[in-house]
Amino acid sequence: MEDLARRVREKAREKGAVILAHNYQRPEVQDVADFVGDSLELSIKAMETEAKTIVFAGVDFMVEQAAILNPGKTILTPEPSSICPMAWQLDPPIVGEYRKKHPNTPLVVYVNSFAEVKSMADYVVTSSSASKLVSKLDAEKILFGPDRNLASYVAETTGKEVVAVPLNSYCPVHIGITKEKVLSVKERIPDAKVLVHPECPVETRKIADFVGSTSQIIKAAGEINAKRFIIGTENGVVHRINKLYPGKEAYPVSEDTICPNMKKITLEKVYRSLVSNEVVVKVDEKIAEKARAVLERSFELLGVEVPWRRK
Ligand code: 13P
Ligand code: SF4
Repeated sequence: MEDLARRVREKAREKGAVILAHNYQRPEVQDVADFVGDSLELSIKAMETEAKTIVFAGVDFMVEQAAILNPGKTILTPEPSSICPMAWQLDPPIVGEYRKKHPNTPLVVYVNSFAEVKSMADYVVTSSSASKLVSKLDAEKILFGPDRNLASYVAETTGKEVVAVPLNSYCPVHIGITKEKVLSVKERIPDAKVLVHPECPVETRKIADFVGSTSQIIKAAGEINAKRFIIGTENGVVHRINKLYPGKEAYPVSEDTICPNMKKITLEKVYRSLVSNEVVVKVDEKIAEKARAVLERSFELLGVEVPWRRK
């Protein structure tokens, strides 16, 4: 493994490629990456890098977003079958249907969606930026999708009316993080603080000490004055916390809180992708242009500087 990791780093250096990895990636993939983060941080890194090639260890919508933001660069996925099932639950006909039913209502889409859906939206957010952006909008009612759980979290935290688009989309991993499972771990570790992702069901969020994106959870574990934490998101985050803070202990809600698609990417596949220059992810330029404008508007509202504006 160490030898393979060294070869990955050498190949990346030789090619002038940057490796970006999501917090849910396998530990050995995280360890060879130039940067590991949540969806928003990875998008920002993808925009800022000077590298001509980006190898993106993440699911389909994340890699596609890097391609939308970098029209002149080569964006590689080590495993094209690594998909996010939630992103597939919102398609353009559903967007059209809700737009017609709710005219003059802003549509905010979750980053876990595809380019065409993003191109039809008013704004794009991640789990770390959703409430902040929606609270800035001059509208008391918004359309939000996919993910009915993040939609209800945005409603709770902003006090606005949020219509979930479609009504019942969800993440198959986070839906399994139930209140009962969390309480049964808490029974074993009563002093543990509960940190959860907003994709979890509302009943789970209600008993949590902290709700945030994957990177916000990691940061919170470092900052909260406690030793033990129960982590209500994919178990890659448990690994990161235990590695980053040797004096602290992170526990999963269940050993099988795993996103199988994220775990399809292996070190071997990252290496093969660098050597073969495959698989290149491309987005139809007309759709990408529209989606990019929506992303740019969203970043501006959030106060994130868009690097190409600086040049
Ligand atoms: P983050 O933006 O919090 O990393 O979330 C991405 C995701 O897919 C959560 O399941
Ligand atoms: Fe998609 Fe859920 Fe996996 Fe996140 S954890 S990538 S939302 S399936």
